[in-house]
Amino acid sequence: MRHLMSPLDFTTEELEKLFCLANDIENNKEKYAHACDGKILATCFYEPSTRTRLSFESAMIRLGGQVIGFSDAGSSSAAKGESVSDTIRVISGYADICAMRHPKEGAPMVAMEKSLIPVINAGDGGHQHPTQTLTDLLTIRSLKGSLSGFTIGLCGDLKFGRTVHSLIDALVRYDNINFIFISPDELKIPDYIIEMLKNKNIPYKEVSSLDEVMPQLDLLYMTRVQKERFFNEEDYIRLKNYYILDTEKMQLAKPDMLVLHPLPRVNEISVEVDNDPRAAYFKQAEYGVYVRMALILTLLELA
Ligand code: NCD
Repeated sequence: MRHLMSPLDFTTEELEKLFCLANDIENNKEKYAHACDGKILATCFYEPSTRTRLSFESAMIRLGGQVIGFSDAGSSSAAKGESVSDTIRVISGYADICAMRHPKEGAPMVAMEKSLIPVINAGDGGHQHPTQTLTDLLTIRSLKGSLSGFTIGLCGDLKFGRTVHSLIDALVRYDNINFIFISPDELKIPDYIIEMLKNKNIPYKEVSSLDEVMPQLDLLYMTRVQKERFFNEEDYIRLKNYYILDTEKMQLAKPDMLVLHPLPRVNEISVEVDNDPRAAYFKQAEYGVYVRMALILTLLELA
């Protein structure tokens, strides 16, 4: 039985198969409409979510399966003190596959150890968010045609942003990728990631000005300042509007640079940018459903 805890749980060849399947699903939706008839997905969300939970649910329903779950720890037995290990043992008897989001780093791994069904990490604290990474990779591959040979700027909260951590982990396996990390000093990328890049000899630079590096980028991955991970409200207020991507900044960019964002957006991309053909974040959210459909089929061994 396979689970998904980190984007590295799949080899690049396996990812390639997954993305081909996701593209086939996008183009032939009716072919997959009954692929999961009789199957049940459980979504166990101990932390808020719109896209991740609903895209998982939409994915299972579009495959002909059904969905059970909770979207708030307060409405589950966690409020009575139940452990994730016990919850997953029980859910294993109710569902065929489970997507779990938890504020504690590692909680889905703890669940996986006791689970009798495949578990998907749908985000664990500031650690990893592998299905967002699958979404990001599918978006880049589909819109840019390749997962190698580009300069990517990651901008905003690089300290707490789990989507950033997972995406970097996944991208270092492809060729000729150049990372530019754009953040205020307080929100810099964690040291363990910098160490990993140094060990692998992957080119990167850390800057605080977005304008300065904008012309070099093939992809700009914007992120929200992760309010819920701050200890101190004042720090959040000081940093939340540090970067605002607007039409003026977009004029500095290459004509084919793509703007990605895992969403939700707060202020970091001004709504006027939505009309720019280079704004790919809503298309990216749509790819999230196709890639999760492909993932469910793969983990249930129905692909
Ligand atoms: C991200 C997350 O939950 O980490 N959202 C998502 O799943 N698309 C990004 C965020 O919350 O900023």
